[in-house]
Amino acid sequence: MKKTTKSLHAKVDTSNDAPISTPIYQASAFEAHSDFFYSRKNNPNVEEFEQAVGLLEDTKHALATTTGMSAVTMTLHLLKPGQHLIINKFLYGCSYKLFQWFCNQYQIKLSILNLSDKDKWDELPMADMVFFETPTNPFLYTVNIEKISALFKAKNKDTLIVVDNTWATPLFQQPCKHGADISLHSATKYFGGHSDVMGGIILTDNELIYNDLLSNRFYFGSNLGPYSAWLLRRSLFTLDVRLAKHKTTTLELKEFLEKRKEVARIYYPDVDGIQLTDYATLIFFELAEEFKDKYTQLAQSLYLFSTGTGMACVTSMIAQPFSGSHASMEYSERHEMGLDERLVRLSFGLEDVQDLMSDLRQGLDALHD
Ligand SMILES: Cc1ncc(COP(=O)(O)O)c(C=O)c1O
Repeated sequence: MKKTTKSLHAKVDTSNDAPISTPIYQASAFEAHSDFFYSRKNNPNVEEFEQAVGLLEDTKHALATTTGMSAVTMTLHLLKPGQHLIINKFLYGCSYKLFQWFCNQYQIKLSILNLSDKDKWDELPMADMVFFETPTNPFLYTVNIEKISALFKAKNKDTLIVVDNTWATPLFQQPCKHGADISLHSATKYFGGHSDVMGGIILTDNELIYNDLLSNRFYFGSNLGPYSAWLLRRSLFTLDVRLAKHKTTTLELKEFLEKRKEVARIYYPDVDGIQLTDYATLIFFELAEEFKDKYTQLAQSLYLFSTGTGMACVTSMIAQPFSGSHASMEYSERHEMGLDERLVRLSFGLEDVQDLMSDLRQGLDALHD
């Protein structure tokens, strides 16, 4: 049976009335005879969401959290003072800031490497955890999980390989099948998909890691709430059909943008068919030199692209990572990442592709005014 079919039928329902869709268990606590206990520990809606994602990504364990950032934070807490964390150079701005703060606070050594380009490393360091996104935010560079895992584990077999899989989704990439110990997601993006809910999820095949994270979640109080879990599970039913539409739109609009002289370069991930089997929704492009200061004008002239920080949702969005998702980083850090005002991020929604194309056409034409 296809994993999408299995995921559709994942169900945790404790009532005898057998409703077709699981109701919201908006309860903080459960009677002593229940399988559930206290919603900070477990809840039927949270468990159903976890099961559905675990089936899609084909991992033994899944653990939902309040946001993507809480998934990252909980994972970081697997490290101990004196240990060494290596992160990729290209990362979501808040994750980058969190790593700096966390490592400073807890005496963990932090190193930043370009994990897509091993030739630039002086030597192979010993690491306790290696954390990266693939594709990355920004630029959508891909990192070879199998190679990174083999390299670092050869030096220290206990190195934890952690992949932020948000931009690939479980449908297009399963990091734990390629040597990662942990895969995590901001569920606020593709899983939610409607700009109305926040969440995160951590996936692993390793029981020890799962048990550690499970108790951390209970004591940190980072479990997802029942209503958010219900919304996320509901959105997950349509993930593959949304992705199919996102994908055709993305490819068509990428082709359209490639022909525009206002666009100097498009960033799109390397879909190798092995690790990353497909891709959809988000692209980055660089404004051509002549238009480099015109991001605001472009964003203001588009009718169908809103300027919020959300991505991978049913409606289209435009953003400037330099002043948005990566604004919390120092200017020099953004510069080091290769990030400047020219980089534009587009997230294509489910609108008709011709409507989106007309809107982009008139927006880019307006830059000549
Ligand atoms: C790759 C990546 N990971 C994690 C996060 C954080 O997720 P959340 O906003 O749900 O906390 C984001 C947010 O944009 C992201 O892009």
